[in-house]
Amino acid sequence: MRMSVIGCGYLGAVHAAAMASIGHEVVGIDVDDRKIASLQKGEAPFFEPGLQDILAEAIASGRLSFTTDIAQAHGAAVHFVGVGTPQQKDGYAADLTYVNAAFDALIPHLTPGDVVAGKSTVPVGTASALAERVTPTGATLVWNPEFLREGFAVQDTVDPDRLVAGVPEGEEGERAAEILREVYHPSVAKGTPFIVTDYATAELVKVAANAFLATKISFINAMAEIAEVTGADVTQLADAIGHDVRIGRRFLGAGIGFGGGCLPKDIRAFSARAEELGRGESVAFLREVDAINLRRRERAVQLVVDALGGSVFQKRIAVLGAAFKPHSDDIRDSPALDAAVRLHGLGADVIVTDPEAVENARRVQPQLAYTTDRDEALQGADAVLVVTEWDEYRRELSPEHAAALAAGRIIVDGRNCLDAAAWRSAGWSYYGMGRP
Ligand code: UDX
Repeated sequence: MRMSVIGCGYLGAVHAAAMASIGHEVVGIDVDDRKIASLQKGEAPFFEPGLQDILAEAIASGRLSFTTDIAQAHGAAVHFVGVGTPQQKDGYAADLTYVNAAFDALIPHLTPGDVVAGKSTVPVGTASALAERVTPTGATLVWNPEFLREGFAVQDTVDPDRLVAGVPEGEEGERAAEILREVYHPSVAKGTPFIVTDYATAELVKVAANAFLATKISFINAMAEIAEVTGADVTQLADAIGHDVRIGRRFLGAGIGFGGGCLPKDIRAFSARAEELGRGESVAFLREVDAINLRRRERAVQLVVDALGGSVFQKRIAVLGAAFKPHSDDIRDSPALDAAVRLHGLGADVIVTDPEAVENARRVQPQLAYTTDRDEALQGADAVLVVTEWDEYRRELSPEHAAALAAGRIIVDGRNCLDAAAWRSAGWSYYGMGRP
């Protein structure tokens, strides 16, 4: 099937390559010349495991191309729109500038029978408003939210755990859903749930899923706060409640909290939208979820300050991790980088290391010192703060090796990812989050 993918960021670039890898003929379109130039050469413009391979393969096969010319969308049967919906600069709501610009650009190139599939995470009600503009062209709008996780984006796109299609009522909607089934033929063939809904439900599925995940993380971090004043161990608590299959252990990782380009801004946009709808109270708990999450960053910093005797001024602190999670170079709303910035603000001599995210971090926080070499970061450190659970820090760094490099023996585990007993028996003062 011929398709266009408008927006070649984390979502769109992966989607375009993944669609070509399952046999479709795809053109990826973006307004950013540099991104497109890199993609045309088969080079992923960001770090995402597996993307480089499917990108190069699909380009070599001739099924995948990239352009800045929106007119190239003409003739495609399906047009995916996967542009960003960041948080507004002066509020919590989502900024729909890029979505509106993408539709403005695309609409003149639509032909009757085309399907436009919105993938961006949008406030509920956006799709029905956009449909009023798409329908007069004879094309059909569907809302087809994306649930991919960074770090597993290729796998999640090629083999998702569910597919959701919000469609208009009647035959037009049925036909559009049928076309989406053809698009995702390998998943449909293997029996992946394919849920057809109205627009509002499809839009809400995405924000509800992210709100639930954020709530789960903040729930366990709230328990960590209670553990901190009672001497309990939140990791054991999470293991114990996680054995209940109704609860489940995943996303009960207490620590410095969630970040990234999705969870933080999606819960804020959801609150803002609910308020517009007169139902602010229904999701008022999301404000607490956000507040708990942000408190954990402060707590991690406080642990370092306390461990160093009340001041970090001119103390050398190695911050292990800058990305918002491992297997990613994404530093958007990263708790890791935030902690480093806060420590720097307190006068510490901070050195940040990360296997993939240093370049991105340096761009937005140039005042910090960086190295991609973990051991160089550890050299002479008075304290070590682990904030992204890369294997390089979690599995491959032994307390003995770290002790040979660092000046102090203080380790703060912002992700509860280290073996506390092993670090302690090697002579370190180990501080976890919500652990005695
Ligand atoms: C998320 C959703 O998982 C995905 O379905 C959606 O499409 C986009 O948003 P992503 O932003 O890639 O994906 O990251 P995710 O794996 O959900 O992690 C988000 C943040 O939560 C990270 O900062 C991670 O470190 C943190 N986290 C996760 C915890 O603090 N504890 C946990 O137990 C799990």
